[in-house]
Amino acid sequence: MSHDAQADALVFFGATGDLAYKQIFPALQSMVRHGTLDIPVIGVAKAGWTLDDLCKRARESVTAHPGGLDEHAFATLMKLLRYVDGDYNDPATFADLRTKLGDARRPMHYLAIPPSLFPVVIEALGSSESAKDARVVVEKPFGHDLASARRLNGVLHSVFDERSIFRIDHYLGKDPVQNLFYFRFANTFLEPVWNRRYVHSVQITMAEDFDVADRGAFYDSVGAVRDVVQNHLLQLTAMVAMEPPASAEQDSIRNERAKIMETISPLRPRDVVRGQYEGYRSVEGVRADSTMETYVAMRFHVDTWRWQGVPFLIRAGKCLPVTTTEVAVELKRPPSTVFPDVAKGHPNMFRFQVTPGFKISLDARAKQQAAGLVGEDVDVDFANRPSDDLPPYERLLHEAARGDQTQFARQDTVEAAWRIVDPILDDAVPVVPYAKGSWGPAEADELTEHVGGWHAPDMD
Ligand code: BG6
Repeated sequence: MSHDAQADALVFFGATGDLAYKQIFPALQSMVRHGTLDIPVIGVAKAGWTLDDLCKRARESVTAHPGGLDEHAFATLMKLLRYVDGDYNDPATFADLRTKLGDARRPMHYLAIPPSLFPVVIEALGSSESAKDARVVVEKPFGHDLASARRLNGVLHSVFDERSIFRIDHYLGKDPVQNLFYFRFANTFLEPVWNRRYVHSVQITMAEDFDVADRGAFYDSVGAVRDVVQNHLLQLTAMVAMEPPASAEQDSIRNERAKIMETISPLRPRDVVRGQYEGYRSVEGVRADSTMETYVAMRFHVDTWRWQGVPFLIRAGKCLPVTTTEVAVELKRPPSTVFPDVAKGHPNMFRFQVTPGFKISLDARAKQQAAGLVGEDVDVDFANRPSDDLPPYERLLHEAARGDQTQFARQDTVEAAWRIVDPILDDAVPVVPYAKGSWGPAEADELTEHVGGWHAPDMD
């Protein structure tokens, strides 16, 4: 099969589960509405359900999510939908799947199931002939640490080649993240300053003002480092720091992201602060003596010619004062010999807001009106839009069906990211409590002492 041939069936395992309800059905309906889905869709699960039950669940799902029910698109989706009910350990389930696949020759299998079930499903796909010329789409968490990620890659590679494996990191499917990449390489004015001579520091903040109440048991086995740093935030770092790719072709871009990931040294516990919001241990599903982090802050370097010596900082947490993800690239200040006040105002800073909206801006200084040569802080918006036009899952499923791997995580990058965080997993760094609604433990401020503190994200 040509690797960019269009898939001719979409199979999703875990059809009765949470991810299907929250993300997949709304994405599928939206794909139909946008004319990007017209292939059979086969849900697989072990629930004792019928196709009618699944249709009912799909209707509830799209009704409950942004965009709502579109009767016409939904009716078309229901005509495409089929259902296989059965145990993943039972060969009869896969025989039924093979029958329902009918004439399909290039199916795409989406594993929206717990990673512990991957091996059994992947092996069964292989032995039932359903993996031939097929693609597989897998969800994060991709492993629990470096060793388990390698094992998982081994399992996938026993049946699929790397060109057929699509590892979802929904941050890569976000329009503002793709725009960060576009903005960097579609303008000339950034490149001259985008390096250690002009950049003072790079900060990435992923703040969420909500707790983990509805997913305590899952979260307590993961924590902030595995949940969002190993994947979303290190991929974002790679987008900020990467060299220009030779072209916008998928391998060129993924090669450059991988190179950045290779240059970041494994984190040292002394460069990391872990926090846990007060009350976390009372959440249903969380262990009463849990030391899992709901907040993490870290500093590190990207050790390339371009970035040597520039501090990179990441912080991410639940129950913080706001919900936003922002990349802030702070430039060095000009000498203050002409205007002493430039030492006090805000420095030049490029900001890229990734959630909740999309914004690219530059903090700068300008002279106040009629007040002599005294300045004030101003900012320039290059782009400012409320939110993503296309939900990440819709974009990613569409791209996987087309065989485009650009916005999916490649094996080398995923393993390099685990290598970076491996030394700080679990209890390598003690966890400290923080109050809900605060910016996390005060200890995290010490990480930024030499760069002048954390930047408050732009919430205007
Ligand atoms: C998920 C994490 O991958 O990303 C969640 O599991 C987190 O804990 C979510 O809340 C954030 O995604 P978004 O798109 O809402 O910024």
